[in-house]
Amino acid sequence: MALESVSALGYIEIGASDLAAWKQYATAVLGVEVLENQGELLLRYDEEIWRIRVTDSGEDDITCAGFLCESESVLLTVAARLRSLGFDVTGASAEDIARRGVEAMQICHDPAGLRIELYTGSRSAAGRFISPAGVSGFVTGEQGLGHMVLTVPDPDAANRFYMEGLGFLLSDHIYMQTPMGELMLTFLHCNPRHHTLALAPIPVPQRLNHFMLQTVEFDDVGYGLDRAKAHGVRIASSLGKHTNDHMTSFYMVTPSGFDCEYGYGGIEIDDATWETTSYNAPSLWGHARN
Ligand SMILES: [Fe+2]
Repeated sequence: MALESVSALGYIEIGASDLAAWKQYATAVLGVEVLENQGELLLRYDEEIWRIRVTDSGEDDITCAGFLCESESVLLTVAARLRSLGFDVTGASAEDIARRGVEAMQICHDPAGLRIELYTGSRSAAGRFISPAGVSGFVTGEQGLGHMVLTVPDPDAANRFYMEGLGFLLSDHIYMQTPMGELMLTFLHCNPRHHTLALAPIPVPQRLNHFMLQTVEFDDVGYGLDRAKAHGVRIASSLGKHTNDHMTSFYMVTPSGFDCEYGYGGIEIDDATWETTSYNAPSLWGHARN
C-alpha cells in the first residue's frame, strides 16, 4: 500500500526583485488576478484565495512551497515520517497560519534548503475567479496549482525527502542529452496530475526551473502565446508536446528569470493501472529552445 502522502501543491511563494514587472506580467500575460498588498502580490486563478505569493525579498527564486494534507492525521503522519528520516519539522506560529489562510501547519526544509509548509484547510476565496485577460480557466482543484520543476544539487537526498518523506510516487523519468552530459529528470505525482513536482539534477543556484499553469481550453495557450509576444516576454521554448505528460505548451521567461510553462491537456494518472517508464527525449515535437 502506498504511504500516506501530501495531496497537492497548494501554493508557492516567490521572492522577486521587480514587483511592478510581476504585476504587469501576471495580469496581462498569465491572465490571473493580482491582489496587491504592502510589499507583496497575491496571484489568484481559481477558487482559492491565492496560489502564488510574490514578495519583494529579491531572490528571484522560489522561497517556499506549501503542500496540502487532506487531514490533520495525514499532516502529523507525514511530519513524523520526515522526523524519522532526520529532517527537522516544527509547528507554525499563529501568524504563519493566518498569513497562509490555513487551519494547521508544520514547517520544514528540503535537503536543498527550500522552506516547505505542510498544511490542512480549504483556503476558499469569496467570489469567483475572473481572468483579466479572458482565460477560460485553469485546471486546479484536486490537482493543485499546477506543477513545479526544482533544480536539486543532490538528487538522492531530494528523492528521499519528497518520496520517502512527503510520499510522492514516481511517474517516470526522462533522460536528456545536454552540453553538461546526460541528465535524468524525475517526475513525481501525489494526485491525478501526471507530475506535481519534477527534480532536475542541475547544480545551479536558482532552485526553481519553472512552474506550470494548465489552462482549461487549448485556445487559451495560443492566446497566451500571443499575449506573451505582444508584451515583449521572451519565449524560452516554442510550442511543443511533451513525451511523458502529453502537455502541449510553451515556455516563457518570467520577470524573475526562471520560466513559466503555459500548457493544456496534460494526462492524468490512475495509480491502479499506472506503470512507470522512461523516455529518451522531453518532447514529441516542438519545444525548440530559443
Ligand atoms: Fe513543466
